Amino acid sequence: MLTRLCPVSADLRRRVTGRLRNAPDGCRARPGHCPVTGRPRQLRCEKIRNVNPPTGESPFLRACRRQPVPYTPVWFMRQAGRSLPEYRAARASMGMLQACFTPDLVTELTLQPLRRYHVDAAILFSDIVVPLRAVGVGVDIKAGVGPVIEHPVRSQRDLQRLRPLEPGDVPFISQAVSALVAELGSTPLIGFAGGPFTLASYLIEGGPSKSFDTTKSLMYGNPALWHALLSRLADITIGFLRAQVAAGAAAIQLFDSWAGTICPDDYRQAVLPHSRRIFAALAGTGVPRIHFGVGTGELLGLMGEAGAEVVGVDWRVPLDEAVRRVEPGKALQGNLDPAVLLAPWDVVEQRARDVVARGRTAEAHIFNLGHGVLPSTDPGQLARLADLVHSESARVPG
Ligand code: CP3
Repeated sequence: MLTRLCPVSADLRRRVTGRLRNAPDGCRARPGHCPVTGRPRQLRCEKIRNVNPPTGESPFLRACRRQPVPYTPVWFMRQAGRSLPEYRAARASMGMLQACFTPDLVTELTLQPLRRYHVDAAILFSDIVVPLRAVGVGVDIKAGVGPVIEHPVRSQRDLQRLRPLEPGDVPFISQAVSALVAELGSTPLIGFAGGPFTLASYLIEGGPSKSFDTTKSLMYGNPALWHALLSRLADITIGFLRAQVAAGAAAIQLFDSWAGTICPDDYRQAVLPHSRRIFAALAGTGVPRIHFGVGTGELLGLMGEAGAEVVGVDWRVPLDEAVRRVEPGKALQGNLDPAVLLAPWDVVEQRARDVVARGRTAEAHIFNLGHGVLPSTDPGQLARLADLVHSESARVPG
């Protein structure tokens, strides 16, 4: 049947009819036609659409490089996770970090959203604290809370515990990434790591924080220790990202999620040099680099200066305004408020069209949410949203 639908190789047919097609119970059937290719939709039509071009020609990677694309590529931060019933089932008997260290499960959880949504990229299922645990930091992820650190890092002596990350520290990542690259075919896999401010905030606070008091008190009160800490974190992050790229990740994203809590001058002085070093260390790999934070409207220009090809924007700054704030020569990623997906479809549709329209003012645009998918999101809304972005952006405006 597949042959009549699409002229794909036997190899692809094996891949598509393998893991990717094993849609879980409750997974929405996708009848009708793909809005972009016009092809009858039986399997994942974007898998089929992407088969001939190599990964480098995928719309996602082309947009990262600001090359012309047939439609705006789309993926969702936290596309894998608690919004999916099959995720909750697969994780039921395993802790979050343990799951991140289990290659088969990482592979499965990374693929789950691709069975439901026509997204243009997969993101490795992992967490920003995985490299910390891999170098021996006592850290766990508590359900409903987030990362919790056994011994917070607040002194020079505490720093000694943070050694650089060697490729041999994360064999499970290399295994999962290699398996995923084989499964995904021409769909790119995004690797990621936490940004220096965000990682430091968990280590210093000992867990999640709203006001980051202890973090800021160390940043202002002991700049030498602050920079020593961020420098070590940058080394760990570089090692972690290089391991992902070496195994086949086609792009990387640095999530400095909580950097928006500091002002531009402090960011420039206390964080930017470390982020810049991370991006510079990855430059030679040739994979596109994305830099994202929440509430970073005032920092967008500086985050662009750190060196990534793509700047992620949260929902607080419209994309046409973000274009003015970020230096030329960057692609933008974002930025539908994830909470919009909790509203009726006509609201989602109207807001998503607005994001696509404003995204046209950027040199290149990758559609995403302004932050991660909320656990209460209906996966059906996300499936419709990915299709809407493709059809809306493939249309010539006017
Ligand atoms: O995007 C994806 O699909 C990949 C998955 C991903 C996870 N964590 C899995 C996860 C990514 C990209 C992350 C990054 C991450 N982790 C960030 C940066 C991105 C962001 O959201 O700003 C941060 C700050 C963390 C730290 C962290 N880990 C938090 C705040 C939480 C949520 C705590 C909670 O229970 O509400 C986690 C746990 C976590 N990481 C979950 C998932 C799917 C939930 C774990 C569960 O299933 O209970």
